[in-house]
Amino acid sequence: METLIELSQKMPKTELHLHIEGTFEPEQMFAIAQRNKVSLKYNTVEELKAAYQFTNLQDFLDLYYQGMSVLLHEVDFYDLTMAYLKKVHSENVVHVEIFFDPQGHLSRGVSFETQIKGIYNALKDAETQWGMTSKLIMSFLRHLSEESAFETLELAKPYLNWIDAVGLDSSEVGHPPEKFLNVFEASKKLGLKVTAHAGEEGPPDYVWQAIEQIGVDRIDHGNRALEDDKLINEIKQRNLTLTVCPLSNLKLCVVDDMKDHPIKRMLALNLHATVNSDDPAYFGGYMNDNYQSLIKNTKITKEELFQLAKNGILGSWMADQQKEHHLKELNTLFA
Ligand code: HPA
Ligand code: ZN
Repeated sequence: METLIELSQKMPKTELHLHIEGTFEPEQMFAIAQRNKVSLKYNTVEELKAAYQFTNLQDFLDLYYQGMSVLLHEVDFYDLTMAYLKKVHSENVVHVEIFFDPQGHLSRGVSFETQIKGIYNALKDAETQWGMTSKLIMSFLRHLSEESAFETLELAKPYLNWIDAVGLDSSEVGHPPEKFLNVFEASKKLGLKVTAHAGEEGPPDYVWQAIEQIGVDRIDHGNRALEDDKLINEIKQRNLTLTVCPLSNLKLCVVDDMKDHPIKRMLALNLHATVNSDDPAYFGGYMNDNYQSLIKNTKITKEELFQLAKNGILGSWMADQQKEHHLKELNTLFA
């Protein structure tokens, strides 16, 4: 009999909520800083790691934007992305849908082309080498204006073949989804799918807005939707997947204790919850660590583990045939 932890490691997994800039491991950050001759605020890897103590989302974002500031050249984006893909390939992740934050780099003079070429080439190399498939999600920074988001969308137009969706991230409270109504509308007209971070720190009303006003295809986080029974029903009616991030929730104090993580409750409510790592270099773990923490702390069952992996396959934007292929593998493993 395999343990649940062994099963969670072996099972084919999808990652649907991952910020590529949040995979920047301190060692790699220092190496790239050195080769680009830029200085960091911290002198050593240890000093930097010691700063990874957050009481809320903004604490983290301040460090996250500092960290990404050493990324200057196409090769930097390639190396960052490839390091992440290699890591999760070793964890039996078969498909990833990753965010990047163009505005976090454009503001520093790094072109859209530099960013996307580095990321896209790594995604394609992972597919060639390992058969790992991917989607790319361009995320708008919600603390900036809708006008800035529109400028970013304009820059993305030559690369629409490489971009599958748009998202909304950064500081949630005070920056509701409806602020970006027009740019999401324009994105949809270009054939892009739409997702948004909602209900991580923001109130249930922000999740309502994401669903009813923006018409999202997926909800990132969504934890606070559980405060509103009508909202729970709406999410179910629309078959919306929630991309839940357990270790992120713990590190950013969205939950106080992993034992109290709501993922079991989400499953009990028949919500399509999935497990994801968000910003693994900052939050203490990649996909397998997230599953392991849930297994150790929340007493999830084998059936629940299976459901989470299945939700990840079904909630992805893979073609139906590919979903069936991975579901078959999953069924065999759990039989
Ligand atoms: N929430 C909002 N914005 C983000 C996050 C997050 O967890 N990670 C990177 N940008
Ligand atoms: Zn996120």
